[in-house]
Amino acid sequence: MQFVASPLRQQFVATPLRRGGYEVATTPPKCEVKPEVTNVAPKNQKISDDSLRGSSLVAISALTTAQIATILKTGGAMQELVTTQGADESLKGKILASVFYEPSTRTNCSFQAAMMRLGGNVIAVNESSSSVAKGETLSDTVRCLETYCDVVVLRHPRSGAAAEAAAAMSKPLLNAGDGVGEHPSQALLDLYTIVDELTGGRGSVAVAAASEESLAAALKGKVVTMVGDLKNGRTVHSLAKLLGRFDVTLLFVSPMSLRMPAEVVAIAARDGSSHTEHEMLTESILKETDILYVTRVQKERFESVEEYDKVKDAFIITPDTLAMMRPDARVMHPLPRVGEIDPACDSDPRAAYFRQMANGMYVRMALLRLVLG
Ligand code: NCD
Repeated sequence: MQFVASPLRQQFVATPLRRGGYEVATTPPKCEVKPEVTNVAPKNQKISDDSLRGSSLVAISALTTAQIATILKTGGAMQELVTTQGADESLKGKILASVFYEPSTRTNCSFQAAMMRLGGNVIAVNESSSSVAKGETLSDTVRCLETYCDVVVLRHPRSGAAAEAAAAMSKPLLNAGDGVGEHPSQALLDLYTIVDELTGGRGSVAVAAASEESLAAALKGKVVTMVGDLKNGRTVHSLAKLLGRFDVTLLFVSPMSLRMPAEVVAIAARDGSSHTEHEMLTESILKETDILYVTRVQKERFESVEEYDKVKDAFIITPDTLAMMRPDARVMHPLPRVGEIDPACDSDPRAAYFRQMANGMYVRMALLRLVLG
């Protein structure tokens, strides 16, 4: 596939980075609490869209917007299922191989829990317990695993590894993060959270994503600000590409050395969105932001600790930062955080990162239902 890069609208602020607290300290505004939405998708909903059955998910761009709406809507049904009855047996007899060659808490556990809540089983594989330790190639490992299971979930430190593994298999592979490449299931759960939070919460996404059109309408005109390590963070790569197809404004805020890669910007800029790049998280950016998506500086991708130390504290979100944001704005983070969001922010109702984490299981249940159902 070829992507045509439209000219970047860059807006670098030349002043040095500021850390954490800002001078303007106002009382944190109260979060706008919207009424509970009861109009969620019916439980045990029959999934009619079979276009994802048997498909791998390596990169977010492979999904159509209609498929994305279906995944979000199905995620809403899964949230309702878990809330009302905990689990079902829709994937009884199916087996997922969870292959993680990099550390993970949320992605690994939520995929495993998702499979189990749908009545399926899981085989867990890691680098030291598998023949990778003996020098087996990734292609051979996944070729072996697909003879035992129905779907492989893979996390790998190398960008491109998921595509390589999927090409070696005939059963579906779900990319759970390939180095600095992509993290498509995270982008889907991030979009689920954005739409849910912006439309009232508590599963309102099921209605907002009822169709491609309603999903586009829910996102229209929203400003999403991504902050931190945009160069190495695979979550923001997939999320920027995903949001880029909607009528949103993307603000990329990072130190110069950690800018969003040009090819991601080009894809994000291709469709409906507009974007600007910044070196500082200013008050005016905070005021116009609907979603502040904060990321960890990816220490494991740096060549030296000295290089990491130079940028690790570039942006720290504190209650003073939140004080500059609107009452209906939200703060998200894929987690884990290592200091970039002060825990003092956690009690602010606009802090959506723990709700975002919980949504991961619903969205992964949806993916498994649609791919294996
Ligand atoms: C992210 C990842 O692994 O890319 N975590 C996650 O999957 N929730 C983000 C990170 O590690 O910083």
